[in-house]
Amino acid sequence: MRKNRQGTACVILAGGLGTRMKSGLPKVLHPIAGRPMITYAIDAALSLNPEKCVVVVGAMGETIKEALSGYAGKLIFAVQKKPLGTAHALSAGLAGLKSFRGGIMVLNGDGPLLKSSTLKKFLSLHRRAGNALSLASFIAKEPGSYGRIVRDGSGLPLRIVEKSDLTDEESNIDEVNSGLYLMEPETVGLLEKVKPNPGKKEYYLTDILALAGKSGLKTGVYPIAPEEEFAGVNTYSELRLAEDIIRGRLIAALAGSGVKFLHPGLTFIDATVEIAPGSLIYPNTYIQGCTKIGKGCIIYPNVRIIDCVLEEGAIIKDSSLMEGSRICKSAQVGPFAHIRPGSVIRERAKIGNFVEVKKSVIGEGTKAQHLSYIGDSTVGKDVNIGAGTITCNYDGVKKHQTVIGDGVFIGSDTQLIAPVKVGKGSYVGAGSTIRRNVPAGSLGISRAEQKNIKGWARKREKRKGSSK
Ligand code: UD1
Ligand code: CA
Repeated sequence: MRKNRQGTACVILAGGLGTRMKSGLPKVLHPIAGRPMITYAIDAALSLNPEKCVVVVGAMGETIKEALSGYAGKLIFAVQKKPLGTAHALSAGLAGLKSFRGGIMVLNGDGPLLKSSTLKKFLSLHRRAGNALSLASFIAKEPGSYGRIVRDGSGLPLRIVEKSDLTDEESNIDEVNSGLYLMEPETVGLLEKVKPNPGKKEYYLTDILALAGKSGLKTGVYPIAPEEEFAGVNTYSELRLAEDIIRGRLIAALAGSGVKFLHPGLTFIDATVEIAPGSLIYPNTYIQGCTKIGKGCIIYPNVRIIDCVLEEGAIIKDSSLMEGSRICKSAQVGPFAHIRPGSVIRERAKIGNFVEVKKSVIGEGTKAQHLSYIGDSTVGKDVNIGAGTITCNYDGVKKHQTVIGDGVFIGSDTQLIAPVKVGKGSYVGAGSTIRRNVPAGSLGISRAEQKNIKGWARKREKRKGSSK
């Protein structure tokens, strides 16, 4: 058995152009369940506690490095100046492993579905066999653009043939290269023998299998996991398939921990979201970013929640959009509400139909149930905001604050022209335009006097008659 001389290092290849996506964004940064595609391969690699983990980047390397800044200290970046193929990319990656002499695990940055348990299994197979080169393969339903594993009559792996170089006979092979390799230093040393592919003029890492065989090194190719784990993402339709699988896994894990989903297939939860047990999530909901949902919350259909905290027992009713805000214990939002960034809806408060709240604090037990805009405001406890209340926070140049004290009653169809304060316990008459502060315990009212003109309707009828 080979002695594990110096642990393992990982090299993740992400220097390709991703031309098949036809997008300005590097392929490996396309998001899957709210996280860049490459972070899945990185997390799987880091779960092995490798001695070093190198990410090979190319032309858009700076963008990739920036997107991965959260991994500071855990990754080494190596630059492949030109995308001359996967073997060339690995050679570039070696620059990040100068003093390292152990085994190297090579992963594709565009393979987000690999599980950490599969990597561990692969590593132990490689070590047990004492291979100089191991390769993970899988049986593909449609081998498409994957490299085919060519074996001899006795089943020994001979070489990998890329799609463009297949003979008719080889195109029937359904065992394909996953792009996951383990190489000991003597195999890595063969990289310089890889010649450019005659057709594409690229240096293919796949050539390493035949080279190792010819050098008498011990090789093994293992179909260790189903296609689902190895599917590479090269096109938008492959991206969608990978995303479906990852979302399914995330929901299965949450359901396992006690979150109830009415229709998992129509529920879109980002990998970055936390949901506590006992919550109930209806379909057609999108829960994104760093959202945290506490115990026993209910999210009704057609809701999108981005970067919010929902405390225990919060209820979000149908068709609401919520961003960057906190919904405290047992508060309710919706239906058809819009909670914009920087808002706090305190305990038991209710924000109802067609109410927009922006950068405001809504106090405990306060209600704004119908057709209102509350922006740049601080609203106290147990306040009643009548239907159609508008805080006029913007004068065309600056935003201004509205402050409403505890226990205030704002009558319907009120405009509060900010900056303005309505003191504790006061009332504002319906239909008022409040321009000046209302002192605590007062009634603020501003209405034009009502006139009733007797007999007016009859006179109008007559006028209509005579004009015919
Ligand atoms: C590659 C394999 C194929 C395998 C498949 C598995 C080769 C020649 N082919 O094909 O046998 O079945 O993966 O998914 O290796 N990259 C670089 N620099 C380059 C070229 C590519 O870093 O110059 C990176 C890419 O960013 C990508 C990975 O290597 O993350 C694989 O490259 P890609 O072009 O997607 O190879 P495939 O055609 O999918
Ligand atoms: Ca690929």
